[in-house]
This record gives sequence, structure tokens and C-alpha cells, in this order.
Amino acid sequence: MTTLRLRPEDPADEAPVAQVLAAAFARPDVATPPEVGLVDDLRHSEAWLPPLAMVAEYGGEVVGYALLTRVQVRSDGGAAPALALGPVAVAKHRQRVGHGTAVVQAALDAATELGERLVVVLGDPAFYRRFGFERADRMGLTSPWSGLGEPWQALVLPPSASGDAPPPRGEVVFPPPWSKV
Ligand SMILES: CC(C)(COP(=O)(O)OP(=O)(O)OC[C@H]1O[C@@H](n2cnc3c(N)ncnc32)[C@H](O)[C@@H]1OP(=O)(O)O)[C@@H](O)C(=O)NCCC(=O)NCCS
Repeated sequence: MTTLRLRPEDPADEAPVAQVLAAAFARPDVATPPEVGLVDDLRHSEAWLPPLAMVAEYGGEVVGYALLTRVQVRSDGGAAPALALGPVAVAKHRQRVGHGTAVVQAALDAATELGERLVVVLGDPAFYRRFGFERADRMGLTSPWSGLGEPWQALVLPPSASGDAPPPRGEVVFPPPWSKV
């Protein structure tokens, strides 16, 4: 039986991941969607956390991707680390069979194990609420996207053996690669 394998990406995955992203985010007005460049730029930035770039592999083929990278939450008390989720993508021919849910959950589980406490995402609540994401503006978190309301979401991860700090509140600051999208 073919099973879904969930694991952090390795260098050989870069081209297949770009293909999955390019097809999932394809738009008629651009040759290459900005999500492809975003991942490339994040890979070469300080925001990159190798265990949290999660690949879903099915039958030896990369079919899904969920990326968590570093952001900072600024408040009067200083800056605290958090994670941004995205891009998330599944190959067109394997969508709606659970791979997207599985690869996001694997990334969130890996983040919990590392002691991370907060994840933010901009996306459709119809997909993200299953993981426990809620409106981030109601959790005291702002960003350039907070005015959008429902799509600006956050998830507090459970305390773990390696981390039980209170989740931060404040202004979420995304590193420069995010200005591409
Ligand atoms: C969103 C995406 C990652 C979901 O992956 P998936 O493997 O199809 O998702 P799952 O099979 O685990 O879950 C399917 C459920 O997620 C929801 N869902 C799937 N795609 C969705 C989308 N584009 N928008 C909103 N909800 C979506 C639906 O509720 C669906 O349930 P249903 O089949 O009962 O209708 C995938 O559709 C994709 O790559 N889309 C294009 C890129 C994209 O939009 N990425 C997310 C950016 S926020």
C-alpha cells in the first residue's frame, strides 16, 4: 500500500517543491507565482528553520509542502519569536485527499516539539480552522494584514517539554522576503 511520508525537506526536494508551488499557485497573469521566489528567498535567510520545512511524499513523489519560518512579535516588552505558516500547497492531482491537512499538522507537531508557542497564517479559515487557528486580531496580534479580519489567523501551540513560555502578543513583523507576496 502506498503511504504518505511526512518529513523535513532536503536539498533534492527544492526543484519538486518549486513545481508543486508553481502549479498550486498558478495564475494567468504571471509566469511564476511569487510563492516560488518567497520560498527560495526564505531558504537563504535567517528566518529558515530546517526541521520546519515539511514535505509530503507519496509514492516517491513530492506532493505537498508546508513551511514554518521565523517571525518576530514586537511589543513594549521587546521582541519575541513566533512562526509564520506558508506557503502551503498540494499537487493538483493529489488535492482533497487529506495531504494538505497531514503536512500542515506534521509541521505544527514538529514546531511544538521544538518548544514553539505561536503560529500565524494568512489564509482561508475554511482550511485552517481544523488545526485550531482563530482570528489573530482577537488574540492581540497585528500585522499589515490584520485589517483583513478572518484570514489573519493565529494558533497557540501546546506547552511542551522544551517550551512553555506564554504566547506573545503585539505586532507581528515578517522578514523582507515576505514583501514579495
Ligand atoms: C489548500 C490546499 C493546501 C489544501 O490541501 P488539500 O490536500 O486539498 O486539503 P485536504 O484534503 O487536507 O483538506 C480538504 C479540505 O480543505 C478545504 N480546502 C481545500 N482547499 C481549499 C481552498 N483552496 N480553500 C479553502 N478550503 C480549502 C476544504 O474544506 C476541503 O474539504 P472538502 O474536501 O470536504 O471540501 C490545496 O488545496 C492547495 O494547494 N491549494 C492551492 C494553494 C493554496 O491555496 N494554498 C493555501 C494558501 S492559504
